[in-house]
Amino acid sequence: MLDDDPDPERTILILYATETGNAQDVADRLARQCRRIHLRPRVLSMDEYPTTDLISESLVVFVVSTTGSGIEPRSMTMLWNMLLRSDLPADLFDELYFAVFGLGDSSYEKFCWPARKLMRRLESLGATKFYETGEGDDQHPLGLDGALEPWIVGLMDTLCELMPLPEGVQVIPANHAFPSRVRLKPTTLSAIFEDPLDTDPLYHNARVKANQRITAPDWYQDVRHLEFDFEDDIHFSPGDIAVIHPQTHPDDVEEFLSSMGWGNIADEPYEIERLCEDQSLPDHLPNISTLRIIFTRYLDFNAVPRRIFFSHLRNFTSEAIEIERLNEFLAESQEGADDLYEYCFRPRRTIIEVLSDFRNVKIPKDYIFDVFPFLRPRQFSIASSIKDHPQQLHLCAAMVQYKTKWIKAARRGVCSRYLSRLRPGDSLKIGIIKGFIRLPINSQTPIICIGPGTGIAPMRAIIQERIHDEAHQNTLYFGCRSKLKDQHYRDDWEGYATQNQLVYRVAFSRDGPEGVPKFYVQDLIKEDAERIWKLLDEMGAWIVISGSSNKMPASVKEAIRHAIRQYGGRDEEEAKEYVQNLERTGRLIEECWS
Ligand code: 2AM
Repeated sequence: MLDDDPDPERTILILYATETGNAQDVADRLARQCRRIHLRPRVLSMDEYPTTDLISESLVVFVVSTTGSGIEPRSMTMLWNMLLRSDLPADLFDELYFAVFGLGDSSYEKFCWPARKLMRRLESLGATKFYETGEGDDQHPLGLDGALEPWIVGLMDTLCELMPLPEGVQVIPANHAFPSRVRLKPTTLSAIFEDPLDTDPLYHNARVKANQRITAPDWYQDVRHLEFDFEDDIHFSPGDIAVIHPQTHPDDVEEFLSSMGWGNIADEPYEIERLCEDQSLPDHLPNISTLRIIFTRYLDFNAVPRRIFFSHLRNFTSEAIEIERLNEFLAESQEGADDLYEYCFRPRRTIIEVLSDFRNVKIPKDYIFDVFPFLRPRQFSIASSIKDHPQQLHLCAAMVQYKTKWIKAARRGVCSRYLSRLRPGDSLKIGIIKGFIRLPINSQTPIICIGPGTGIAPMRAIIQERIHDEAHQNTLYFGCRSKLKDQHYRDDWEGYATQNQLVYRVAFSRDGPEGVPKFYVQDLIKEDAERIWKLLDEMGAWIVISGSSNKMPASVKEAIRHAIRQYGGRDEEEAKEYVQNLERTGRLIEECWS
């Protein structure tokens, strides 16, 4: 007999801090595994958890993402600040057993820092780390799963030692289908569907004013400048972030629903009844909806699936060949992992493509929230100043599109497709949240903005705002591939420069002859070493770095250290300290993404 209802004593708390939803995914997967060993998981975002309750917890797993520059996700800040208080006794967490899983990208300098610092701080407050810290790395060929899968296996073994299964109770097999997270109950309350975004104060009604391609028409990359008008009085500062909820293309939704056999029930209203309180559902999911709306706004069938998706499929097919293939993929062996990598992850095969290969899979509609990943809102640095453009918000966004060697059809990001089809007059909701960038209070303090590619977005907001405030000590380092094809907002920068409001420096990486090394923003900074040193040391300049390139911030900081060594007479170690001090005091700020 399988026991799906664990003893209420056997509980575990899983706290996650996520920026884009990956840590939440991991937390949900952990919860599912915990249920297999008859533990009752509670999964919560750190900012939903009353931080002082931590003192009375006994078993907690933390799942912590890293933002580009090694800072913790916003949702961890409250808990972290509580843990940093200097008046906490060293035995505060004597009773607490914990484990940490960090998510990060090892091409960044501060790989998994928030997870590591959380682990150290908890230990210094007397908590016991019952299992080694795991670190998921985007650079791993299997992505996050590379470290996560073995970590979970070890975690479960350790938990079983810590809390042995009661006599006669067995581990629930991996392919056991747990009850679904929800029940979709037909309802007649169809008239109006609520949209929870309507009542969330972060969100505002926006109308598209412009959507222009700003790269040359014959250029390989489509970068858009988008402008939105708002009815409300909106407020934000340079460096703040816009949150967009993408919607899947209606034609794709239609095709998907009919391929799943749901064409005739696509618009039936259902009450979404939660059956399993300890696992999360997409944020802002309404109580009543239809399959069409759910697959347009809340669940993503265009994502590249994770390994766990395949274990769900195994529960929902009775076709021998499919079962065999899925068993091969899911075998706990290197061969199985390699097969799945070759089939799915390497070619970046999407869920809908996988489903078209496994035609006999019939996913019961109550299981959709378990099987399909959530369609996450996306964040973009705001590219305009509210002072310069009242009641408006601009974005500068690259449309993600790529091909892989293995599958002909172009892969396009759901959000990119959504943004690229917005037309003037279309309405949508846009959320506004605080970013990490702060500007000097004194407008006479110079600022050095380094933002190649779409890293230009927050720089445009900063420079517009500063010029509006008559702060004229502005320097911009921009980098792109070609003077004529992708030099975003060139006219703006050149215009400000002629008014002496901006020093504009630009590096073209691909305009040189073949074979010549690429020229990047950091090379320009090295050329300008003397000026950089003067701005920093004599005038107390601030530096802001933003961009989508993983290695760029480290190289830029090296170029800054070069200036400090050459013109500040510091040695290697001192220059390093100088830059670290700029970071500590908030004079050097990074807002980077990948
Ligand atoms: P590349 O694509 O020719 O290598 C915006 O993407 C600009 O940033 C492009 O000119 C791009 O050059 C450049 N870029 C890529 N990697 C970089 C790095 N590590 N440091 C600085 N700039 C980089």
